Amino acid sequence: SYIVSPATPEIQKAKDLAAKAAVDSVELKDQMAIGIGSGSTVVFAVRHLEQKCADLGGILYFVLITNRDRIITNYNTFVCAFLGIILNCVPTSFQAQQLITESEHLHLSNLDISPILEVAIDGADEIDPQLNLIKGGGGCALQEKVVAACAKRLIIIADSSKISPRLGHVWRRGVPLEVLPMAVAPVRRRIAETLGAKSVEFRMAIRKAGPTITDHGNVIVDADFGDIDNVKELNRALLDIPGERVWSTKCMYVCERR
Ligand code: A5P
Repeated sequence: SYIVSPATPEIQKAKDLAAKAAVDSVELKDQMAIGIGSGSTVVFAVRHLEQKCADLGGILYFVLITNRDRIITNYNTFVCAFLGIILNCVPTSFQAQQLITESEHLHLSNLDISPILEVAIDGADEIDPQLNLIKGGGGCALQEKVVAACAKRLIIIADSSKISPRLGHVWRRGVPLEVLPMAVAPVRRRIAETLGAKSVEFRMAIRKAGPTITDHGNVIVDADFGDIDNVKELNRALLDIPGERVWSTKCMYVCERR
């Protein structure tokens, strides 16, 4: 699966702890609508959600009619089962959809059925001190943004390697922009000419000839602006171009490596 940050045991542990803190912070309720992010860190959050849903279960009693000839009220309580609760989950990508469908307690939903999400949990590629984010390193930019926009609360989980004094300082692969295929040339030209990007790479696929195609049939352009001094200004300028990708969030769990 797609992994952005190095998968050392320390980083894996940090992702796991951040994911647990995030899931612990949510008061899960049966049938709650929740957005499921993409990337390697979210995998840990899904595991913790699954566990918490299982632990939050109630008791269900099955009854068995022992003899068809007896009156209907003459039945015995037979077994009880600990079922757990169910969350209605809206995925941010094909990867997230797979995580949901493989889970017993997470049911696949969509924004038609669950237009308002209590919370969305997602990862990030880089986080600055103001909690601005670069996201989309895994190529799931557009759907992640739509899902996050439908959530009352967005929780970002990350290990501390993602923390940076300025966006673009640690994440050196450029700001990922999901772009309509027919708009790639003008978008690249405009970013290079008017926004002063050092490079605007058209992301190519690995083990497939040609570009990386997103879950929505778009392509990815990675625009390297170096250290980004004014995130808001760049964000605004990118919003004028099809495909914008600088985020801001106010709820974040980051785990220090020990
Ligand atoms: C997916 O496109 C991204 O926005 C991910 O959320 C981000 O790249 C973080 O991924 P990792 O958790 O794998 O580092």
